[in-house]
Amino acid sequence: MRHVILDCDPGHDDAIAILMLLADPDLALDGISVVAGNQTLDKTVHNTLRVLTVAGRTDVPVYAGMARPMARDLVTAAYVHGESGLDGPDLPEPPVGPAQMHAVDWLAQHLEAVEEPIDVVATGPLSNLGMVLRRDSTLARKVRRLVLMGGAVAEGNVTPSAEFNIYVDPEAAQTVFEAGIATTMVGLDVTHRAMLYRGDIERLRAIGGPVPTMAADLLAFVSRFHLRRYGVDGTAVHDACAVAALRQPDVLTTRHLRVDVETRGSLTDGRTVVDLWGVTGREPNTEVGFDIDRDAFVALLEKDLARLAGSSE
Ligand code: RIB
Ligand code: CA
Repeated sequence: MRHVILDCDPGHDDAIAILMLLADPDLALDGISVVAGNQTLDKTVHNTLRVLTVAGRTDVPVYAGMARPMARDLVTAAYVHGESGLDGPDLPEPPVGPAQMHAVDWLAQHLEAVEEPIDVVATGPLSNLGMVLRRDSTLARKVRRLVLMGGAVAEGNVTPSAEFNIYVDPEAAQTVFEAGIATTMVGLDVTHRAMLYRGDIERLRAIGGPVPTMAADLLAFVSRFHLRRYGVDGTAVHDACAVAALRQPDVLTTRHLRVDVETRGSLTDGRTVVDLWGVTGREPNTEVGFDIDRDAFVALLEKDLARLAGSSE
């Protein structure tokens, strides 16, 4: 059984990522650390608990983490995810709350305690992980692989230069990229190649049951943003691509390259600077995603939702 931690900011695509981790019978989800990002921390924690409730998995411990970036003011994304951070479906109130321990304390304690390095999937701003590594950089050796949704080789989405997760906390992101962890970057270059269109979403809805219905409602809601922004009747499912990359690495096409994060730019703040041709002479530190097998991704998502169709609380 492989052990994994998810660090996230639900968010519609984070919710799908949670479901895809729960659906994998070979993965043990040790806990979910939550960060402010798509919405404020109180809302991203509440959303995490709501998704776990629908999935019948309120046994998974949830830890509230950083309510703001390490060195900046918080930027949120209500324009994508709505005021709740998970607008669209009518979701139940969770019967449980988050654990008492702060996520940064739990992450540090858990990584220290595990005998074998474990996997970490990060699908929000990297404030929690940045703080853990600032506190004790040796904890990097307890992470077998970090798969993060964030960054881009080409265009950004929150500015022309920067992708949202990195843009919100560039200092944390640079701390993570330079920590010496085996890292896979699932950026926008990848996630925009795995779009789900209206027909795909309705096929997922047709699986039936509370979880597929919630997933379809979430995807339909966030498609509205993609239609406004990109003129496409569908949506990228950014964070779910990171989970697919963890579970089925062959789904991703990557190159081992140097990635650093701009923290002092005016137009380029939060940009992942990918050294495509090694011109900096800096040691490559990241498996950078360039492409994804969309059919394999969609098939995995469909199989996962079918597996979860019967579960609910
Ligand atoms: O840029 C997309 C990323 O920012 C996704 O993780 C989304 O959930 C938001 O956090
Ligand atoms: Ca996210």
